[in-house]
Amino acid sequence: MLGGLPVSESGSPFLFHFQSNRKTMLLGVNIDHVATLRQARYAGMPEAHNAEPSVLEAARAALAGGADSITLHVREDRRHMQDADAFAVRREINLPLNLEMGATEAMLEVALALKPDYVCLVPERRQEVTTEGGLDVAGNMDKLRPLVAALMKNGSQVSMFIDPEEEQVRASAEAGAPMIELHTGRFANSLGEERAAETARLAAAAQLAHELGLEVHAGHGIQVANLAELTAVPHLTELNIGHTLISRSVFIGLEAAVREMKEAISALKW
Ligand code: PXP
Repeated sequence: MLGGLPVSESGSPFLFHFQSNRKTMLLGVNIDHVATLRQARYAGMPEAHNAEPSVLEAARAALAGGADSITLHVREDRRHMQDADAFAVRREINLPLNLEMGATEAMLEVALALKPDYVCLVPERRQEVTTEGGLDVAGNMDKLRPLVAALMKNGSQVSMFIDPEEEQVRASAEAGAPMIELHTGRFANSLGEERAAETARLAAAAQLAHELGLEVHAGHGIQVANLAELTAVPHLTELNIGHTLISRSVFIGLEAAVREMKEAISALKW
């Protein structure tokens, strides 16, 4: 111990802290699809007394299963999460909240009022089924820099959801974001040589981000079945996972699905 801090073998308390952080992979649980299911029946009356399933109950189940944070995406078209869902989770659930949002003035207003712990900026197209492709940070620097500054000033740590490309990693750092979330969709959807190439791209992007001082998260299409391959990507500290957990919860319940994922993550060496 040094001044109350544990000391690493190298003698630096800070290095010890850094290394011990790296060994704990955090799990952010995305509960958007619980709202998707509710909206399938109650789109016109999401706050009605009989509307179900409950987003809050889902967040509580995720917490009980070991989630480290709750992620929700309030989309421009409000197709699943409503603003009221985000505020209810913020108020009632004792976990860090990660708000995914498009980089728009209207969403900035919501985020400024909500004050989530984290904001993940994502590209948004109304026609897409889910978030397809990463944010073009390099091509939207003038718009993104002030948005990031406003969110950070409001107390939210900002992450950029980007494809594993050098240009986008560098641009994220330039835009002032302390974190990136690497889009693992192409990795998840590919097999064989393409999968190996995508894993290498993720690893290179993560390495560069780390060298630039960015915290590195990953998300999209991550499942128990592809977790082990992701350990080849260095410096990851958090995985954001949604679809597979909600799918699995149909059969075993959400708390058990989150616990199963937590255990699978913990069983690997990151
Ligand atoms: N991270 C981001 C930024 C996303 O947009 C999504 C999908 O909503 C996820 C993570 C979770 O992806 P999946 O639902 O495929 O696990």
